Amino acid sequence: MSVIILGIESSCDDTSAAVLRDGVLLSNIIAGQKVHEAYGGVVPELASRAHQQNIIPVVEQALKQAGVRKTDLTAVAFTRGPGLLGSLLVGTSFAKGFTTALDIPMVDVNHLQAHVLAHFIRSTETDTGCPPFPFLCLLVSGGNSQIILVRAWNDMEVIGQTIDDAAGEAFDKCAKVMGLPYPGGPVIDRLAKEGNPKAFRFSKPQIAGYDYSFSGLKTSFLYLLRDRLKEDPGFVEAHQADLCASLQATIIDILMDKLQKAAADRGIREVAVAGGVSANSGLRKAFEDYAGKYDWKIHIPPFAFTTDNAAMVAMSGYFKYLEGEFCGVDAAPFSRVIL
Ligand code: KG4
Repeated sequence: MSVIILGIESSCDDTSAAVLRDGVLLSNIIAGQKVHEAYGGVVPELASRAHQQNIIPVVEQALKQAGVRKTDLTAVAFTRGPGLLGSLLVGTSFAKGFTTALDIPMVDVNHLQAHVLAHFIRSTETDTGCPPFPFLCLLVSGGNSQIILVRAWNDMEVIGQTIDDAAGEAFDKCAKVMGLPYPGGPVIDRLAKEGNPKAFRFSKPQIAGYDYSFSGLKTSFLYLLRDRLKEDPGFVEAHQADLCASLQATIIDILMDKLQKAAADRGIREVAVAGGVSANSGLRKAFEDYAGKYDWKIHIPPFAFTTDNAAMVAMSGYFKYLEGEFCGVDAAPFSRVIL
């Protein structure tokens, strides 16, 4: 009999529901929240309220698109953490109510593991493009920058991570000081295409091992703007594309240097990328360049799975369901976690 999982994601500012049948994706609906744009970042209380408004229509749409009835569902998988507690509570409470009413199991999912396991979502029954174990996964989002050694779907080790800001945060914060809208990552990506990546130089961290740091880069970017704006109030507008291209190139260099070091030290050539920043065109190009240079086999997710989405939650839930790893209705969401 088929295993049909409904996935629910509500960890930050995207409300998403997806349906997966035996690991094959049937639907993946994502409702973003425009309400945060005016504030230059996610406002937690507004996010939870928007999740409450969105969750039922999003689930209804996911079931309808998948051609699946509520009573066909085998289990519900939901993001338990990490994320914003108020936002997580909406998805968690929904999953509890829904599974109790349908009398089916509930599976709790770690959001970070779900980003990695997005590589196993199949679009058809014959789709076999997923990475073989072990592989390295660069997980880069608004809240995380990690290098993860993935030995199995349930055996992941974080071998490097940011000691301060995440890569997505560096994009967003630098965009904000340039007066660009939130989220800044996609805007910088677009503007960088017209600019010279060598126009400006920013400091790069000198830390041992595979850990990252982006706070020094952010400060170096801020100081450059502060000094140049004193001489020329129109500096940012006049050099926007070059600033974006140089900043993006620096972030990518920092990410790829450590990833390459980890891959060489561990003797691993299967290398994946995941998370919101994996939508970045420069980072995707860098992966292709490194694949050519270091003989990597690379795994780059489709755009729909880069941002927060319930398809990856359903996928993780599917793996856990097969092992009988369910959770009880007493499962509380958690805001922070280490893989
Ligand atoms: O994974 P995600 O959707 O949410 C979490 O942080 O969990 O990642 C959002 C981050 C934001 O910082 C956003 O600016 C960044 O991903 N991002 C990008 C691009 N698209 C999204 N950063 C650089 N280039 C992009 N094209």
